[in-house]
Amino acid sequence: MEIHYLGHSAFEFITNGKKILIDPFLVQVPNYKPQNISNIFVTHGHGDHLGSAIDISAKTGTPITAVFELANYCAKRGAKTIDMGLGAWKEYDWGKAILVPAFHSSSTPDGQYAGNPCGIVFEIEGKTIYHAGDTCLNAEMKTIGEIYEPDLAMLPIGGKYTMDIEHAVTASEWLNSAVVVPMHYNTFDAIKVDINDFTRQIREIGKVPAVIDIDGRMEA
Ligand code: NI
Ligand code: MN
Repeated sequence: MEIHYLGHSAFEFITNGKKILIDPFLVQVPNYKPQNISNIFVTHGHGDHLGSAIDISAKTGTPITAVFELANYCAKRGAKTIDMGLGAWKEYDWGKAILVPAFHSSSTPDGQYAGNPCGIVFEIEGKTIYHAGDTCLNAEMKTIGEIYEPDLAMLPIGGKYTMDIEHAVTASEWLNSAVVVPMHYNTFDAIKVDINDFTRQIREIGKVPAVIDIDGRMEA
């Protein structure tokens, strides 16, 4: 499968001709056009994750998978939705996904309660990929490592609202994932980091730092 980084916490997975879009806040990729997307996932209600999800879904009919309250919010605004709770696999025609806890908050851009913030574990082409959403370091990650054994972890590293680099390094040890993709950094001044610190510290613990340029791609 291919992973296409769309800036901030937004990614597109491409597998066997199908495309899956996660947290489509697309301000950093003005030339990107979401086309033929099979499924959209949104980790929580904050504007920098909900992004263009409702617009895309309302225009194209692509369903948004999100936690119950957030799915309802999107459905009321014309989106097609798949609502889920935390903790049960859902099968799709490209693989499966499960919502896992994130420790953060979740309200919509207009201030409504949006349910629990989530991370997502995907199983695609025999690979397990964990997108942490926005979260602090938390012991749940040890459980995610034990139960799901992610091959690749996408972790926020910008600090202030989420984990910083140091905590992301600890998280990747707890998750026991060989490859770590950083996200949620350098989008705004408040979450500025030196990405070389991340790369160095992840290498020091024997893991592979996979820094993807904005609009860049990697094979997973
Ligand atoms: Ni957030
Ligand atoms: Mn965020």
